[in-house]
Amino acid sequence: MPTLNGFTYQYIEKNPGGHTLLLLHGTGGDENDLLDLGAELDPQANLLSPRGEILENGMPRSFRRLAPGVFDEADIVFRTDELAEFIEAAGALYQIDRSRMTAVGYSNGANIAASLFLLRPEALDRAILLRPMLPLTPEMLPDLSGKKLLVLAGKYDELMPAESTTALTQMLQKSGAQVELVWQDTGHALISTDVRLAQDWLK
Ligand code: MLT
Repeated sequence: MPTLNGFTYQYIEKNPGGHTLLLLHGTGGDENDLLDLGAELDPQANLLSPRGEILENGMPRSFRRLAPGVFDEADIVFRTDELAEFIEAAGALYQIDRSRMTAVGYSNGANIAASLFLLRPEALDRAILLRPMLPLTPEMLPDLSGKKLLVLAGKYDELMPAESTTALTQMLQKSGAQVELVWQDTGHALISTDVRLAQDWLK
């Protein structure tokens, strides 16, 4: 498995210079976890999939937490910078058109993607956040005008408090992003409707 800037990752090129999905897995996943989902969402997309740098009881994730839903904010800032640098480096290495990149993050991966928008907005223009919550409140709101996000939430999500998902959506909107939030009759796990909604949004 290749490594770049300390990240182990997968890069699958299908369409040089075309659409690329940046896949960010949840706790306990790895760089292979979301490859099938990415191929289902857009069969023509290049797939860039880094493994989270942290190990929590042997499970990879993207930043440290003190307890479920209680995050180590200093570590989020540090890891968000590292991921932004990785995206930059991978973009240069594989000549990825960054304006044609969409992040797809699930759970902890959705939270680090949200953090990229809040702290390093130059890193991404578009994202699909699957089961996110507000990872942190930045000192100053970023300028997210022109950015587009789809937030797919579960009404019965046992891990992501609904008010935190709503707070994240409102913060992104207040920062100028165009955000579509969809509440589904489900919990934290992904369902087939997530795939259909995400496919439709990508078109
Ligand atoms: C997080 O840590 O980002 C959330 O609690 C979701 C998760 O369990 O990964």
